[in-house]
Amino acid sequence: MAQDKKQSIEQSSKQSINVELIKSNLEQLKSDALVVFVSKKATKAEKKAATPTILVEGVSKAIEDKVSAAAGSGTLTGAAQEAVLFRDTHFSGTKHLIVVGLGEAKGLTAETLRQSAAQAAAQIKSAKIKSAAIAMDSIAHTALSAETITQAVTEGILLAAYGFNEFKTDKKDDGLEKLTLVSSHKNKSHEKGLETAQVISECVNFSRWLGDRPGNRMTPSILADETVKAAKGTKLKVSVWDKARIKSEKMGSFLSVSLGSSQDPRFIVMEYNGAAASKKPVCYVGKGLTFDSGGISIKPSGGMEEMKYDMCGGAAVIGTMLAIAKLKLKVNVIGLVPATENMPGPAANKPGDIVTARNGKTIEVNNTDAEGRLILNDALVYACEQKPAVILDVATLTGAMAVALGNLHTGYFTRNDKLSTRIENAAKESGEWVWRMPLTDHHARDMKGTYADLSNMSSGKGAGSATAAAFLEQFVDKDIPWAHFDIAGTAWNTGDRVPYNPRKGASGAIIRTFIQFAMNE
Ligand code: BES
Ligand code: ZN
Ligand code: ZN
Repeated sequence: MAQDKKQSIEQSSKQSINVELIKSNLEQLKSDALVVFVSKKATKAEKKAATPTILVEGVSKAIEDKVSAAAGSGTLTGAAQEAVLFRDTHFSGTKHLIVVGLGEAKGLTAETLRQSAAQAAAQIKSAKIKSAAIAMDSIAHTALSAETITQAVTEGILLAAYGFNEFKTDKKDDGLEKLTLVSSHKNKSHEKGLETAQVISECVNFSRWLGDRPGNRMTPSILADETVKAAKGTKLKVSVWDKARIKSEKMGSFLSVSLGSSQDPRFIVMEYNGAAASKKPVCYVGKGLTFDSGGISIKPSGGMEEMKYDMCGGAAVIGTMLAIAKLKLKVNVIGLVPATENMPGPAANKPGDIVTARNGKTIEVNNTDAEGRLILNDALVYACEQKPAVILDVATLTGAMAVALGNLHTGYFTRNDKLSTRIENAAKESGEWVWRMPLTDHHARDMKGTYADLSNMSSGKGAGSATAAAFLEQFVDKDIPWAHFDIAGTAWNTGDRVPYNPRKGASGAIIRTFIQFAMNE
């Protein structure tokens, strides 16, 4: 039984798609489906024309003819994210043809490619295609490098292929098994793009899996054990603190949140040194709340099951750290994840209780549902003690964040303009959406306590996300650049906007930005 459980974990967290890059012409290829990218012509006259002019390159005359005929009949427009499956076309050794639009080739971005590839993956999934080949030569010639193109296409397919059916007893094995990227010229930059995409997708999908597992099957100790297991064979060092250690390390605020649960907390510490010891590390901190019932300030029952995702910040940090280690980046990084449940057991925090954090600051717990800040604060104090170059924390911290920005943009808070620029650049390069939010002394004032130094609830109205950020700021040394990312709106159910994310389930938001941030270091 224990053995069975182990195997199922391994199977569901590993990518089983075999990806290869070959130098070949399409005539020699054997595959269930061939994916061809097309773009739109964009001159004024062409835009006005009754039937769109679609550009297709790097494919056989027969495929070109098929595309023009489909354009003529209105089946294809070449618009970005359009993916049309033509069944049983039998061009050379391929059975079906999938034509994917990229929009206008001019100004094509990596993210458009990633999303368009994801639309191809949706067709692959719905037609239960086992092996697919991508005609890389068909991707319109643009300013994007071969590495960027290969990475974006591969990520689009691999991220879109993720599904969570671990607990269905009648699992159907009908997913994509083999993906072949076919190019007439294969070089190092294609290979690099492919490798990067494989690592990033694997780590994002692993992080999604951590998030998708329900509370009873992703407890703090399971989260820690899975991290240790996933880091095997890499240079990522993982140490795990148990409840006694958390207590002796004076993390009284974090500990207090865990007391209402029968599950013991864990503090997961990850370290990777890819640069000289003299180089200060980047420190990532993530909220690992494996189930948030609200505690004594209990949440309404409708939708409470979604609070299994309250560890997505922690999962993002774990995914980021694994990817950095697997990509062997030349940086030093530390990842910290306080992991606990928030439950209303007999020893739980009660409204009005006063707890003491690792830096000695006292906090009134005026709402036990504002627990994320009570576990992150101790982790942030520990992070500062490591003297990092920068701290980035990520958390499903406030419902107010989802109200403010919805499920596309992740709100982030920092008072450091230089750091903000670096974050914006990393997000843009990775194809994620972030939005800077205000953080001022006014927000900090609202977090002062009546009977203790701080309250975990704002005394003011509104700005719930900014006041939460201002609370966290009280635990970060002023001279360390710091930013806080609130992924409450973007951590799950984002597939309506981003085609490579699941419609329902964890998205893996912010991991790609965090990895890119380390790459840019
Ligand atoms: N985990 C929640 C935040 C959350 C809510 C994330 C909905 C995603 C969707 C957090 O612990 C919480 O409950 N925050 C409270 C804070 C309030 C009591 C000050 C909230 O947002 O209501
Ligand atoms: Zn809560
Ligand atoms: Zn929470």
